[in-house]
Amino acid sequence: MSGNSGRDTAPGLFLTLEGIDGAGKSSHLDALEALFRAQGRAVVRTREPGGTALAETLRGLVLEQSMDPLTESLLVFAARRDHIVQVIEPALLRGDVVLCDRFTDATFAYQGAGRGFDDGVLATLEQWVQAGRAGRPATVLLQPHITLWFDLAPAIAAQRLAGARVPDKFESQPVEFFSRVAQGYAARAAADAQRFVRIDASQARDQVWQQVETALVARGVLGGTPR
Ligand code: TYD
Repeated sequence: MSGNSGRDTAPGLFLTLEGIDGAGKSSHLDALEALFRAQGRAVVRTREPGGTALAETLRGLVLEQSMDPLTESLLVFAARRDHIVQVIEPALLRGDVVLCDRFTDATFAYQGAGRGFDDGVLATLEQWVQAGRAGRPATVLLQPHITLWFDLAPAIAAQRLAGARVPDKFESQPVEFFSRVAQGYAARAAADAQRFVRIDASQARDQVWQQVETALVARGVLGGTPR
């Protein structure tokens, strides 16, 4: 699925964080950035949808307006294309660490599994947007090297989210929607077990962080190794 093992020439590390709303992934971004900076790596911290002026504008539309799932998918992939071309690809070619809060797995989980949109269409859009970028051959998709998947039962995530802030379009969905999104993530993880690291996000925050650090050490991306 990742289709890039050993075939990308860009020296950077592409690391993504995924999980349903309320799983707590974003709370580890500061520590992750600090960890890589302490290793002497340049870090580009970014998010999807977003990461460029255009993509942030598209994010506002996607999170605030109701639209049919194809329109939504086209907008998130349009945002992704701009983000890849302007930010992710140049950073990976420079050798930076790209720390990205969500990427294409979120589209398969939210638009695909959550909203029931056609996976085949999403896979086509993924090809159009991600093939041949950042040093890959024309037929190879740009994918994260490592995806930290913060896995949490939807009912617990809903409790954590309740009252935290004004919910956006997705956060205000019922728990059944997030059950489907969680199944979507599980399916993506099963299809690309090499890339995904499952983090048990039900544990206390410190223990969740321990899992993240342990996973990165196990993957050999800390301690001076290039990736
Ligand atoms: P999120 O990453 O949770 O940011 P914040 O912490 O600021 O709320 O919010 C992004 C939302 O966008 C989240 O509900 C998932 C959704 N999303 C999609 O539906 N499809 C996508 O392809 C991406 C990247 C995100």
